[in-house]
Amino acid sequence: MDFKLSEEQIMIRDAARDFAQNELLPGVIERDEKQEFPKEQIKKMAELGFLSMMVDPKYGGSGLDTISYVLAMEEISKVDASASVVMSVNNSLVCWGLETFGSEEQKQKYLVPIATGEKLGAFCLSEPEAGSDATSQKTTAIDQGDHYLVNGTKNWITNGNSADVFLVIAQTDIDKGHHGINALIIEKGTEGFEVGPKENKLGIRGSDTHSLMFNDVKVPKSNRIGDDGFGFKFAMKTLSGGRIGIASQALGIASGAYELALKYSQERKSFGKEISKHQAIAFKLADMATEIEAARLLCLKAAWDKDQHNNYDLSGAMAKLYAAEMAMRVTVEAVQIHGGYGFVKEYHVERLMRDAKITQIYEGTSEIQKIVISRNILK
Ligand code: CAA
Repeated sequence: MDFKLSEEQIMIRDAARDFAQNELLPGVIERDEKQEFPKEQIKKMAELGFLSMMVDPKYGGSGLDTISYVLAMEEISKVDASASVVMSVNNSLVCWGLETFGSEEQKQKYLVPIATGEKLGAFCLSEPEAGSDATSQKTTAIDQGDHYLVNGTKNWITNGNSADVFLVIAQTDIDKGHHGINALIIEKGTEGFEVGPKENKLGIRGSDTHSLMFNDVKVPKSNRIGDDGFGFKFAMKTLSGGRIGIASQALGIASGAYELALKYSQERKSFGKEISKHQAIAFKLADMATEIEAARLLCLKAAWDKDQHNNYDLSGAMAKLYAAEMAMRVTVEAVQIHGGYGFVKEYHVERLMRDAKITQIYEGTSEIQKIVISRNILK
């Protein structure tokens, strides 16, 4: 067993760290407050290859491994989780889904512009009544011979307004249950496709989360990913990798908050000494550091499984469950260590605490991860 990172992995991690400090940190508080999408920053991330890290260079990607992706996700998320959710969805769900299951024609037409940063992608599974219970899709894609006619609503779609290409999961044949679901590629601007208002969120407020409406949208059959009825498996397989991305996001949010709390505790004095010298604070820091390291190892193990072509359903769900729960605990403690300062925006930890919450909810709630984990260990 070798825990040593390669020179390339260290270089990627350091580049992501520099980018986060130099490009994302300035303005992150204002973007959160104004719910402003980090447009310029995302453009730069795309130019640097952070939005298509694992895509084969022949399709315009960086051709890196999943470990490098986890390292970069942690660094970006330490500073701006609104930017890192864009990064996670584009890499893990959109690029990976298209590269792994798309036809060569779909890769040339859709993956290449997304991987080169010309376009952005979105993944559309959740609905007003189908978030955790993903088989209960109400959006329909009715077979009309050479095309599907899509009708329905999708909710809480990351990159909802900024994306150009949407991977949409819809029910074609209700009698076949999850075997009657398809995944379709729908372009922004297609007649009948409308973007709803932006959600006013607790956290990751810089990311644009929207509902989407499909009203008699014609989608050519050539835009279906995989065989007829493959849509649910497409979503499940894609989300398995997506969970590694969100686990790394939770890890980054926690380690960002921890680093701030550590620094603050070594500067701030009370009762005649730095607060880090009070055991009440030192023990908090010890717990935080230990839990972060445990989450990091789970994230890296899941990434390693993916790179080794092992099954990563279990390790990805474990990493997501643990990292999300840990991020919530650690960010609450980071605010506590900061005392009153932790409650005001300029100290960053209150934002990280708000951002942590979503990692327990999206790409499968913590309860969903427990379903996946228990089914895997009991089967
Ligand atoms: N890989 C391949 N196939 C899989 C799979 C996987 N990881 N997981 C399940 N399947 C297959 C099963 O084998 C089964 O197929 P067969 O019938 O052919 O054997 C089929 O899918 C149905 O599986 P289940 O019976 O296990 O399905 P279920 O209805 O019990 O649900 C679930 C399982 C795990 C709860 C699933 O519904 C789930 O993951 N739900 C959560 C969905 C989710 O993550 N939503 C978040 C939205 S996306 C998002 O948040 C993006 C964003 O913006 C950040």
